[in-house]
Amino acid sequence: MGICHSLFGYQCRLTSKAVIRVLSGIQPSGDLHVGNYLGAIQAWLQDQHEFDAFFTIVDLHAITVEHSPELLRANTLKLAMTLLAAGLDPEICTIFVQSHVSAHAELSWILECTATYGELSRMTQFKDKGKSNDSIRAGLFTYPALMAADILLYQAERVPVGEDQRQHLELTRDLAIRFNTKYGETFTIPQATIPPLGARVMDLAHPTAKMSKSSKSPAGTLFILDSPDEISKKVSRAVTDTENSVRFDPVNQPGVSNLIDLYCAATGESPVEVASRHTMYGELKKSVADALIALLKPVQDRYSEFCKDPAEVSRILKLGALKAGEVANPTLIAAKTNIGLVTP
Ligand code: TYM
Repeated sequence: MGICHSLFGYQCRLTSKAVIRVLSGIQPSGDLHVGNYLGAIQAWLQDQHEFDAFFTIVDLHAITVEHSPELLRANTLKLAMTLLAAGLDPEICTIFVQSHVSAHAELSWILECTATYGELSRMTQFKDKGKSNDSIRAGLFTYPALMAADILLYQAERVPVGEDQRQHLELTRDLAIRFNTKYGETFTIPQATIPPLGARVMDLAHPTAKMSKSSKSPAGTLFILDSPDEISKKVSRAVTDTENSVRFDPVNQPGVSNLIDLYCAATGESPVEVASRHTMYGELKKSVADALIALLKPVQDRYSEFCKDPAEVSRILKLGALKAGEVANPTLIAAKTNIGLVTP
């Protein structure tokens, strides 16, 4: 842990925090939504103060589906600005773009060669997106091996993610254990850290489907940069039910429960408290909208500041990639050596 003569003095950096590595990632496949924020980014903001944390914009994952190169470039920068505006601080954590650290693609290939067809076929995210369509890209199938590489390169112990990534984390653990057993101790076995609330924020218009960047339902997706007016409108139109009782019961009242979950994840209150304080759906919706507007307002203000200085954002990402490479490259060399590749 920590290289003595490292360019960025990892040893110094690590003495002030627990020497526990955190890594997480997010795809630049569209604008950041409240699900991303409550399911993952809120935990990142906390973890950066407590651990040696790495956060990556996973652009290589974003090309596993049909995409526009122009839009991908724009989204990558916009996502970096949004993450900085949300409060990720490059002075205390490392923020970088995945494709800027070539070790990710290299280790991904090695891990693909240890993963089995059966394991990759069982990934529900692949099954959801792939739907037995012959023209889907091979990269979508091997996507979880790239994600495993992202994590294992940093010897990460904690991986803060939303509920939908749990299965990918299980596979990452399996691949790491298999590699260590067959080829010798190489990787730390990571653990998903999933928040108790906000781990699976549902679409407001279709509360049995997950809120998603690529959703075809703009009315059901709350974006981080939505204006207070848009947030109020979307929340006030959220689908509920005809029961007229505010209860946290995700199975029977998915819409109302999603609103309670949103409120609790944004404020830290418990679902029971919130349910007991509200009797009307309209009242609950107003509380949810107010809580989200208050949560997002500072992020939106800072975002406009970062937009004025894209050169600074590029500088932060460049530095981040150098710092990331310092940790990732020694792991890659160890993995190559242990699996029998002759290193130059
Ligand atoms: P992505 O880009 O889809 O989402 C980024 C993070 O947001 C969480 N999330 C949600 N949480 C709650 N409710 C929702 N509706 C919701 N939608 C998304 C996700 O769980 C995730 O934590 N495969 C990953 C990216 C990735 C990664 C990694 C993550 C690539 N390499 C290494 C961790 C570690 C993905 O597509 O996330």
